[in-house]
Amino acid sequence: MAGFLYGASTASYQIEGAVHEDGRGPSIWDTFAHTPGRVRNGDTGDVACDHYHRWAEDVALLAGLGVGAYRFSIAWPRVVPAGSGAVNDKGLGFYDRLVDGLLERGIEPVPTLFHWDLPQALEDEGGWLDRETAYRFAEYAGHVAGRLGDRVHRFITLNEPVVHMAQGYAWGTHAPGRTLGLGALPVAHHQLLGHGLAVQALKAAGAREVWLTNNCTPVWSADEDRAAAAVYDGFHNRLFNDPVLLGSYPEFLLPGLEPHLRDGDLDIIRTPIDALGVNYYNPTLVGTASDGGDLPFEIRPVEGYPTTAFGWPVVPDGLTELLTGLQETYGDALPPIYITENGCSAEEGVADTFRVDYLQAHLGAVRAAAEAGVDVRGYFVWSLLDNFEWAEGYAQRFGLVHVDFDTQERTPRDSYRWFRDQCAKTSSS
Ligand code: FCB
Repeated sequence: MAGFLYGASTASYQIEGAVHEDGRGPSIWDTFAHTPGRVRNGDTGDVACDHYHRWAEDVALLAGLGVGAYRFSIAWPRVVPAGSGAVNDKGLGFYDRLVDGLLERGIEPVPTLFHWDLPQALEDEGGWLDRETAYRFAEYAGHVAGRLGDRVHRFITLNEPVVHMAQGYAWGTHAPGRTLGLGALPVAHHQLLGHGLAVQALKAAGAREVWLTNNCTPVWSADEDRAAAAVYDGFHNRLFNDPVLLGSYPEFLLPGLEPHLRDGDLDIIRTPIDALGVNYYNPTLVGTASDGGDLPFEIRPVEGYPTTAFGWPVVPDGLTELLTGLQETYGDALPPIYITENGCSAEEGVADTFRVDYLQAHLGAVRAAAEAGVDVRGYFVWSLLDNFEWAEGYAQRFGLVHVDFDTQERTPRDSYRWFRDQCAKTSSS
């Protein structure tokens, strides 16, 4: 696929460490990880991959891989330690050096502005349940663009707002650990409002492209009728794609959202984006709820497929189905797509045939979607390095590069070499 962009992805709290350094403020993930019982083995991101100090070595690994782009995230609490107000020059300085280091190696920096590490000070005011957080996000986006916008041309606003809403605020399995169930819905609206405001702020500062990264899943129905599946699709996919691409929310969600909607919000949210980032891991099988709870659906295990070390089913065709489905649903309203995350956790060793097979099959699925007419322009592997996998701590390893968390030694796996050959083939074709 000529002109296709290959990349690798990471996120700030998952790799940086140095949580007290150079004026960084606390984030909700520091608080959550330090709360006993929240993260497997009591792991935290205090050190993680020590990327804050070892970034130059990691940039060299990216250069060796031959990727055209690197998707990393910027830690809001490094840039605006209290979430609003004073800007921390040293925090911006770190990303300034990283961006220059990437550009020197011919790698395009593609930063995400929010990959779940909200400044704790904002959570204390209500976090994303509070509409004000959306405005604070846009201000922070403006600060980043002001410092990096002369060299960074493509920004991503949010990473997977659905996962942050569901795991962070509805079920409590991620920071900030709130268990509000359906009461988490305003978190969707406020993140989306923050996204729209940030698109405007970034564009005003001269950004060429702004993307939004959504976690999308093809929803399979366990029942003959698709009623329960349609509701799940509404919560997981349409709640975050419809307002951005069509300017409307799925109707059945309006009663929960309307009290938080103000005139003009949807116009802000549908400010045109230049691409949709899609993170794909697996399809979701949904049936009618059997427990009579407040949700009409329940998630069932997808059976009959190999599974990753995480237990996630490996269904490459699901990615083709997802991409062609997006094309059917949104038609001309769908911007170009980049796969901003795809990858798997696997055994620790460096002979990771499982991951090579996984990546090969999923790239094949992307190619099939492109052949079917979907405008998909790039693919970023999750992840460059083994890292802090949220509530799983260091137990799940997603890296093309193995990290020894005692010594911080990095060792490229077979999948690193395989992906390198893949990138080389494309750039020479
Ligand atoms: C995604 C997250 C990313 C990583 C992968 C495995 O949901 O965006 O940070 O944890 O899952």
